[in-house]
Amino acid sequence: MNFSDIVNRLKLNKDLPDEELILLIDSDEANEPLFAAADEIRRKIYSDEVYIRGLVEFSNICKNNCYYCGIRCGNKKAVRYRLSKEDILDCCAEGYALGFRTFVLQGGEDPHFTDEVMCDIVSSIRSLYPDCAITLSVGERSKESYQSYFDAGANRFLLRHETASEEHYRHLHPDDLSLENRKKCLFDLKEIGFQVGSGFMVDSPYQTTRNLVADLRFLQTLQPDMIGIGPFIRHEDTPFAEFESGSLYKTLRLVSILRLMFPYALIPSTTALGTIHPQGREMGLKAGANVVMPNLSPKRVREHYMLYDNKICTDEEAAESVEKLKNKVACAGYRVVTARGDVKKDCSR
Ligand code: 5AD
Repeated sequence: MNFSDIVNRLKLNKDLPDEELILLIDSDEANEPLFAAADEIRRKIYSDEVYIRGLVEFSNICKNNCYYCGIRCGNKKAVRYRLSKEDILDCCAEGYALGFRTFVLQGGEDPHFTDEVMCDIVSSIRSLYPDCAITLSVGERSKESYQSYFDAGANRFLLRHETASEEHYRHLHPDDLSLENRKKCLFDLKEIGFQVGSGFMVDSPYQTTRNLVADLRFLQTLQPDMIGIGPFIRHEDTPFAEFESGSLYKTLRLVSILRLMFPYALIPSTTALGTIHPQGREMGLKAGANVVMPNLSPKRVREHYMLYDNKICTDEEAAESVEKLKNKVACAGYRVVTARGDVKKDCSR
């Protein structure tokens, strides 16, 4: 099999047939040509720049019961917390001083954070930091709710679709959740004018390679500005406690495939990648990722936002160690920059 030839066609803007995508996703021999091509394209568009986002995990209370997730409502062992508006603003102040120009507010689907509460927080951040991007990651809401967050000053929204296959979706989620609504939310967000991020887990239970191809096809339809992926990692207090963690190299190959299919996308090298391998973050950058999202949450709550076992909340993960992070990124051959880091242009090809 000539993997370089397939990779070259992908690089040259050719839409590969499913069978060739499957080969790339599943073959270790594709690693080197994929990583090299993805790095070339990322450097062409984003140079060696790595954008940093300050992540504020503001609540681990969630009304949903997704089978894979450690903060599912059915996990009675999770120690629950919720940050106040003041806590969140303190995180932003600390982040701003450290050079962050994007704040990502992420939380479970916590009913306490009504539209009124969300808009109050967002508009306060907006008026204090007019030069910063505000990213929300608060799950599924109505289009009217999303519009109100946008009007309050939020710019970006992260909502992974998790899986684009109906059948696979049912393996991962309880009956009260639907893929149809998830997708609707993503298109609503786009219509409103958010920069939209989506994505999926790699090697989640019952996932087939065809499911992953369906994820790529869905993203081709959505044309997101940001794409986040990471390996599935088991959490001991979920129904998926006995499943194996996802493959590092398959995840990296998918990062590269995404870079080639969506050259302009903002692609984070995710915490999950850093959790399954000590150099996972750096490997993600070398495979085509161009964003990292250090943790700005108050130290006392970090260990409780446990989506999966052993989620790293070490020094290097933390926003206050941004100098260490800069060194690590430099060692990998890239450069952390202080910038909002908006998408360079629409990622349609
Ligand atoms: N392993 C890896 N990623 C997970 N997420 C949730 N649970 C897990 C897990 N067990 C991811 C989901 C979600 C994001 C915030 O974290 O994709 O969208």
